[in-house]
Amino acid sequence: MGDKKKTIGILTSGGDCPGLNAAIRGVAKPALEIFGMKVIGFSNGYRGLMDGDGRELFQSDMSGILTVGGTILGTSRESFKKLRKSPEKVQMMIDNYNKFELDCLVVLGGNGTHKTANMLSQQGLNVIGLPKTIDNDLYGTDFTFGFHSAVDIATSVIDRIHSTAQSHGRVMIIELMGHDAGWLTLYAGIAGGADVILIPELPYSIDRVIEKLHERENEGKKFSIVAVAEGAMTMDEAKMSSREYKDYMSSLPYPSMGYKVAAEISAKSSFEIRVTVPGYQQRGGQPSPYDRVLATKFGTYAAEMISRSDYGKMVSISENKLTAIPLSKVAGKLKLVPADHRLINAGRLLHTSFGQPR
Ligand code: F6P
Repeated sequence: MGDKKKTIGILTSGGDCPGLNAAIRGVAKPALEIFGMKVIGFSNGYRGLMDGDGRELFQSDMSGILTVGGTILGTSRESFKKLRKSPEKVQMMIDNYNKFELDCLVVLGGNGTHKTANMLSQQGLNVIGLPKTIDNDLYGTDFTFGFHSAVDIATSVIDRIHSTAQSHGRVMIIELMGHDAGWLTLYAGIAGGADVILIPELPYSIDRVIEKLHERENEGKKFSIVAVAEGAMTMDEAKMSSREYKDYMSSLPYPSMGYKVAAEISAKSSFEIRVTVPGYQQRGGQPSPYDRVLATKFGTYAAEMISRSDYGKMVSISENKLTAIPLSKVAGKLKLVPADHRLINAGRLLHTSFGQPR
């Protein structure tokens, strides 16, 4: 029996984030140099696998990418809901997996990516997932790569905004990404010393937010910093069904959540308010050293898993230990901030308001 060298495919899917290239390098360098595997990079996520848009990657492709943001492979969002209903697209991916003679497909992505990864695994493909997203909302891992870089960026926005807040005596609202999860806003809010932190997991009362702003004013503090997650919601909104909530939100005139919260505060007070939305800056630029290390750990761990044919899992970090969890346990589950998270408790002990009734 000959020792056929393995061929692996790799793709990046969903929103980009810092650390994708570090993770690609983490997988491909040992795959090429230690395990003698052949590596095929597919362009633009699952779309590239569907279209058979793959090219062989060499050691030279891995040079100089550790510190570079974005992804050398390109990415796209392929909705799992739509894919699930398009067996012909799933078949195209299976056909190309076979055409390229892959022994394993490594996918770097977030929630949607891992749902598709699980579906492909159930179809008989050997798949390994690596958890990336600035949202940190992937079930089965304590941290995703990309998250810490985004926290750094969001924190530096909050830090910079302090000076204008103080000079002008304003209420400054900073709207942060995170989709339906409040991780990024919670971490950056605590790191940046925000006075109010509003996250989806803790629906807020605007009266409590305003009370906090008045409290600060009465203490002689002329400015306040409010960190708002893009998915934050009021206590009344939290009672709506998701359809009602969607319809309600699309009926409002605000471009995004930060502006909505500003309007809610303005309607009941006379604070001078400004809104900052750092947007895609939170996903841009170089990965932080922490994310370079995390992505490298995840990538190299995946390469070792492939070498021992350990498939059907997502690499993860749990209590600071690298491990891997079956894709079937990850797919379709979100990791939201638990109400008793230690950072929420820390915030409360520091008199940070989460807009909650006492
Ligand atoms: O999942 C990462 C993320 O940046 C979310 O925080 C945000 O809600 C979403 O992607 C934006 O998506 P898109 O890149 O499709 O605009």
